[in-house]
Amino acid sequence: MPYAADRLSPKTRIVPAAAAALQVVARAKSRILSMSVNDPQPIVAARGLGKSVRLSEADGAATLAILQDIDLAVMPGEAVAILGASGSGKSTLLGLLAGLDTPTAGSVRLDGEELFALDEDARAGLRKRLVGFVFQSFQLLAPLNALENVMLPLELAGDPDAGRKAREMLERVGLGARLRHYPKTLSGGEQQRVALARAFVMRPKLLLADEPTGNLDAATGADVIDLIFRLNREEGTTLVLVTHDEALARRCARQVRLAGGRIQ
Ligand SMILES: Nc1ncnc2c1ncn2[C@@H]1O[C@H](COP(=O)(O)OP(=O)(O)OP(=O)(O)O)[C@@H](O)[C@H]1O
Ligand SMILES: [Mg+2]
Repeated sequence: MPYAADRLSPKTRIVPAAAAALQVVARAKSRILSMSVNDPQPIVAARGLGKSVRLSEADGAATLAILQDIDLAVMPGEAVAILGASGSGKSTLLGLLAGLDTPTAGSVRLDGEELFALDEDARAGLRKRLVGFVFQSFQLLAPLNALENVMLPLELAGDPDAGRKAREMLERVGLGARLRHYPKTLSGGEQQRVALARAFVMRPKLLLADEPTGNLDAATGADVIDLIFRLNREEGTTLVLVTHDEALARRCARQVRLAGGRIQ
């Protein structure tokens, strides 16, 4: 039976269709290739990240979802503020991004590495290489004075110039006159600045800071904010800052809000 007019030449229809399909594939391929060359990958990316804890019998033995379905990608050099009410999961998120805590769902890629596929030692190595962390509770070492606290990470990394670099960084946060003070003889704001100096002195690619200006008066807070953003500008340090400080949040290009453990 003869072909109908529109089906007379099946080949001439199939070939262009196949060619068009090949072109689509080629375009997709070149887009993927150019993406990997031109678009930097996120320095840190969370996908479907979740953290639940099992409460004790006294609390009804229920499961508490602290964080749920967090998708967040931060590009190198970006500054992101994380905002949210007390208890919304901000510190928990920061701890997971640094691999200091383990999630119950999802994943975190740090500089392209699947963080929770690594063992504890490899995670610590990656963190040491990339991340500066400023805790909400400072976590200064009580038996070490301010200078020694800031020197510690440099010395652990075998830096022969630890003393000079630590002193200079403490001077930059306004603590040049408090080098030999132990944490318990420093005010809350001063301890916070020592903690910042300790994170800054390693020139991290990624700075994760939990309320870095929370204990500072307005003037010192403004100085610390300037210092953080100078690091971002001059060294390309990526910033993820948990804050209630609207002035600090406004200086970040992006604000992420958490409520009840989810991104709003
Ligand atoms: N190990 C844990 N076991 C049980 N509950 C926890 C645990 N860790 C955190 N939580 C709870 O999870 C919630 C989120 O805590 P998180 O410290 O992340 O809050 P946050 O947003 O940083 O708050 P804040 O602004 O007060 O610092 C809080 O309600 C807290 O009580
Ligand atoms: Mg917190």
